[in-house]
Amino acid sequence: MPSAPTYWDYLQLDRLLHLQGGLEGDEQDMLANELHFIVVHQSFELWFKLLLREVRLARDHLGQPTVDEETIPFVVQHLRRVNTILRHAVAQFEVMETLTPQGFLDFRDKLVPASGFQSFQMREIEILMGLEEAQRLHYGKVDPIRHIQDTAHDTPAGRLAKERIDTVRQERTVLAVLNDWLARTPIQGSRPDDDGDDAVVVGFLEEYLARMREHHGASYERLVSALEVSEPEAMQRRFEATYDAASSWLLATDVQPPEAQARVRRQRAAALFIESYRELPLLSWPRLLIDLIVEMEEQLVLWRHRHARMVERTIGRRVGTGGSGGVDYLDKTGAYRVFRDLWAVRTVLLPRTRLPELRNPDFYAFTAT
Ligand code: HEM
Repeated sequence: MPSAPTYWDYLQLDRLLHLQGGLEGDEQDMLANELHFIVVHQSFELWFKLLLREVRLARDHLGQPTVDEETIPFVVQHLRRVNTILRHAVAQFEVMETLTPQGFLDFRDKLVPASGFQSFQMREIEILMGLEEAQRLHYGKVDPIRHIQDTAHDTPAGRLAKERIDTVRQERTVLAVLNDWLARTPIQGSRPDDDGDDAVVVGFLEEYLARMREHHGASYERLVSALEVSEPEAMQRRFEATYDAASSWLLATDVQPPEAQARVRRQRAAALFIESYRELPLLSWPRLLIDLIVEMEEQLVLWRHRHARMVERTIGRRVGTGGSGGVDYLDKTGAYRVFRDLWAVRTVLLPRTRLPELRNPDFYAFTAT
C-alpha cells in the first residue's frame, strides 16, 4: 500500500534544505551571515520563478486573437498575484539589511566576480515584459545579456541560465500583446475593421486636442493672474511646448517609419479613451488591467530603487562584485521603462468636464441587459 503523503515529501524538504551550501557545498563551517545571504537570495529567486509563471499566463490570455469580456478577469487575477509578489519582494530587502557592512566584508571577496548581475531570472522578467535592448545599460563593454551567455559555463546552473535566456528571447512580450489588444479597442464605438475607423480615431484625437488647447488657455490665465508672472511669454511658450508634445504623441508623428503611425496612434488613442471614460461599464475591466500593468512597472522600478538603497547602505559606493560602478550603475537602471505609453497618457489627460462628448454610449453599457 503506498504510504500517505507527508508535508516533507510533498515539499521535498530533504533537497530544499540541502541547497544552501554555497561554493563549498557545505554549510557546516559557513558563517551565519553567509547562510543569511544565500537564503535571502534564494527566496528572491523563488519569487521570481512564480512571478514568471504568472506573467506568462497573463500574457497568454491577453495574447489571444480576440479577448472577450470573460477573459480579462483572468489576466487581472494573474497580474494581481504578480504585483503582490513584487510588493512583498521590495519589502524583503529589509531582511537583507540586517547584514552589516562589516559582516558582508567577512565573505564578500570569495564571491567575485559572481553577482546578482547574473540573475538570469531577472533578465527573463525584463525581456518578457518587453524592455528594449537599446534601453539596457552596459557597463564598459559588458552587455548584461551577452555577459550571461559568455559566462554560462558547462555546469547545470550555467546551462539553465543560457537555455532560459535563449528561450525567453523567442517569446512574445507583454508589451507586444498589450499593444495588439489596445490596437483592437473600440474608440467612440468604432472598431479597427469598421469603415472609416481611422477618421473616427483622428476625429476623436483632434477634438481632444482642441479641448486641451482650451484647458491650457484657462490654466495659463489663472497662473498669470495668480502669480503675477513677470514674463508671461515664457509661461505661454511652456504651455505651447506641452501642447506640441501632446499633439505629436497623440497623433504619433514622433513614430518612424511613417507607415507605423496609424497603428501606434490607435494604440495611444485606446489608452487615452480607456483612461478618460474609465467609469463606463464595458471599460471597467480594461482599465483595471491597465492600472495593474502600470502598478507592475511601478513595483519593478521600486524594486530597483530599494535594492540600490540597500546596496548603498551595505557597500557604499564601491565597485560591485560583478565589476560595475555599483550604486551609480544601479541608480541608472531605475530609469528603465517598458510601458512608456501608459505613463505618457497621464501627461495628456483632461478633467472630465473638458472631455469630448462620448459617441455611441450604448456600445459601452452593460451587455447583460
Ligand atoms: C548585501 C546584499 C547585496 C549587495 C551588496 C548587492 C550588490 C549589487 C551590485 C553592486 C550590483 C551591480 C552589479 C555588480 O557590479 O555586482 C547588483 C546587481 C544586482 N543584484 Fe544585488 N546586491 C545584494 C543583494 C541582492 C539581492 C538579495 C538580490 C535579489 C535577487 C539582488 C539582485 C540583483 C540583481 C537582479 C542585480 C542586477 C541589476 C541590473 O543589472 O539591473 N541583489 N547587486
